[in-house]
Amino acid sequence: MRNHTRTHRLSQRAAPFTTTTKATSQAERARRLRYNFQPVLTCLVGSFADVPQDLLKEIQELECLFTIDTAKLKQITNRFQAELDKGLSVEGGSIPMNPTWVMSFPTGYETGTYLALDMGGTNLRVCQITLTEQKSEFDIIQSKYRMPEELKTGEADELWEYIADCLMQFLETHHGDTSKLEKLPLGFTFSYPATQNYVDAGILQRWTKGFDIAGVEGHNVVPMFEAALAARGVPIKLAALINDTTGTLIASAYTDTKMKIGCIFGTGCNAAYMEDCGSIPKLAHLNLPPDTPMAINCEWGAFDNEHQVLPRTPYDITIDKDSPRPGQQAFEKMIAGLYLGEIFRLVMVDLHDNHETHIFANQDISKLRKAYSLDSSFLSAIEEDPYENLSETFELFQNKLDITPSLPELELIRRTAELIGTRAARLSACGVAAISRKKSYNTCHVGADGSVFNKYPNFKARGALALREILDWPEKNDPKEDDPIEILAAEDGSGVGAALIAALTLQRVKNGNMHGILHPENYQ
Ligand code: BGC
Repeated sequence: MRNHTRTHRLSQRAAPFTTTTKATSQAERARRLRYNFQPVLTCLVGSFADVPQDLLKEIQELECLFTIDTAKLKQITNRFQAELDKGLSVEGGSIPMNPTWVMSFPTGYETGTYLALDMGGTNLRVCQITLTEQKSEFDIIQSKYRMPEELKTGEADELWEYIADCLMQFLETHHGDTSKLEKLPLGFTFSYPATQNYVDAGILQRWTKGFDIAGVEGHNVVPMFEAALAARGVPIKLAALINDTTGTLIASAYTDTKMKIGCIFGTGCNAAYMEDCGSIPKLAHLNLPPDTPMAINCEWGAFDNEHQVLPRTPYDITIDKDSPRPGQQAFEKMIAGLYLGEIFRLVMVDLHDNHETHIFANQDISKLRKAYSLDSSFLSAIEEDPYENLSETFELFQNKLDITPSLPELELIRRTAELIGTRAARLSACGVAAISRKKSYNTCHVGADGSVFNKYPNFKARGALALREILDWPEKNDPKEDDPIEILAAEDGSGVGAALIAALTLQRVKNGNMHGILHPENYQ
C-alpha cells in the first residue's frame, strides 16, 4: 500500500517557482514571445508559414473561442468581487465563502508535534510535523499512499476504513506499539467544499474533482472518520478539519508575513484569505468581535455557476454535462488540472469528426476518444516541446494515442495547448485580483500550490501578466522589479499548514477562545 517514506528537514523558505524547460532554440523563443505573452490581442492568427488555409481557419476559430482579452478579464473580475461579497451575505451566492474557524495567522513561534492527513485527489499523505523552537522551522516525516481510483466513486465506509488503515500503518512505522501511544492531535486536510460551523466538523456540501461517493454529501465527515479510527483503535484526536487553501495560506504566512491569500491550482482550484468577523454578515448572529480574523475558504471553483460572465466554449459545456456534478464548479472546470487535458481532447476529437479539415484523417483515433485519457501533464509536455518541428509532440501522439500527426497538425496541436493553458492562467488571475481588490491589498504575496501552478509551463508568467492587465499596473522599468501583488510558490499547506492550524487551535482553546469548537474535550 505504501509507496515510499521520506524523512526530511525542509527548508523554511518557499521554494522559488521554476519550470523545467529544455534548451530552447532561437526560433522557439521567438514563437513563445509571439504567442504566449500576447493574449491581449484577440482572434489573432499566428504566422504559421507551413499551415494550409483550412487549418489556419481552425486555429483562428480556436483563438477566438479561447482568448480572453483585458476588457473581458476586468468584467469577470468585477463580477467575481461582487460574488465574493454575496457569498459572505446571509442570503449567500454561488461562491460558498466558508468560514473555517482559523482565527489568526501564525507568529512563527508555534511549537509541538502534530499529525497531518491530506486527502488529496491523487494521493493520501500522512505527515508528522514538529514545529521546532526555532522561528518558522519544522521537521517533517511523511508517507504517501496511493488513493485507489475505485475508492473515489465507491462506498463511504471503504474510504474511511482505507484512510484509518493508512494512519495506523504510519503510526506503527514511526511509533511502534500504538497501544501505548497517547492520542496525537491531527489536522485533517479535506479539500472539498464543507460547511464548517466548527473547526472540528465539516458538512460536505458536494464532492468535486471527480469524486462521487454516496452518503457523504450533506453530512458531517468528522464522525465518519472518527468512527473508522475508533474501530481500529488508532490513537488520534482530530484538532481541525482544514481546506488545502487555508493550509496553504497559513503555512505560507508562517515564513512570509506578506502572504495574504492562499491558492491551489492543481486537480481543483480554489483560494482562501483572512477576513474580519465584522465583515461576514452571515456570522453576525454569533456576535464575534468585529476585528477578529477569520480565514475564509472561498470555494471559488463555483464562481459563475449561473453562467453569466465566463466565456464558455462548447467544449466546456460538454465537460460540465458529462461530469458527475453538472452545473457545479463552472470556474474550476475551465482552469483546474483535472479538466485541461480533457478540454484539449474534446477539441481534437471535434476537429477530427465535425470540421471540414478532419484532422488525423483516415487514422484510428479510438485511443483519443477515451474520456479523461489525457491529463494536464500531456498539455505541459506539448507546450514544453523545445523543437521547431515539434518532434516530441509527434512522439507523444504516436506513443500515447497511436496517431501520426502532420507538421501542420502539430502546429495546431501546439497552439491549442497554448490557448487552453493561457486561458486557465488568465482566468485564475481574475480570482486573485477580485480578492485583492475586495481587501484593498495593493501590495501583497499570494502563496500558490498545486500541479498546474508548479508544473504547467508559463502558468505563473501568464497569470502575472493578466493580473497586471486587470489591475492596470504601469509597465515595469526593470524586468527584475517585483510586481505589487506576487503569486509565489507556497509552503506545504496540507502538511505544515495543517499542523500549524492544529497548533493555533489548541493554543486558542487554551487561551479560552472557544468559538467554533464542537468537542472541547479533544483539546485537553
Ligand atoms: C475543492 C476545494 C479545493 C480545491 C483545490 C476544489 O475542487 O472544492 O475545496 O480547495 O479543489 O484542491
